[in-house]
Amino acid sequence: MKYALLGCAVACLLVSGSAFASEELAKKNCMVCHQLDKAGMGPSMKDISKKFAADKEGEQKIVTVIQKGSKDATGPGKMMAPMANVSEADAKAIATWILSLAAEEKK
Ligand code: HEC
Repeated sequence: MKYALLGCAVACLLVSGSAFASEELAKKNCMVCHQLDKAGMGPSMKDISKKFAADKEGEQKIVTVIQKGSKDATGPGKMMAPMANVSEADAKAIATWILSLAAEEKK
């Protein structure tokens, strides 16, 4: 019983914190190809964060990449397909989470 309560305390905390929820969305939709701090098939999330954090319209641009795909951002031949399965709200939440990575680094 004690452990069940503890499990809930941890799980419920994860669900209630929106930063964690956005991270889960990113894990589910993006982390197949993007790793947190290493370039894989796509650039690392931290690199993406740094690039777009320097841009005033960064958040909107990430949302656009999610919805429309990217073309030749890091060289010809590589391209990310549009992800129609990710809703606008989810895309914004993911973009906010990605941008928060660069802010974390600066602290
Ligand atoms: C099927 C693999 C795949 C998935 C899934 C994927 N990406 Fe990508 N992504 C790539 C590749 C490959 C590139 C490099 C594309 C290029 O250079 O045009 C890329 C590029 C990007 C860029 C542009 C980086 C730049 O320098 O302009 C952003 C932003 C991005 N991805 C965000 C996301 C987000 C957010 C998700 C989840 C919603 C996601 N990606 C899911 C493969 C993927």
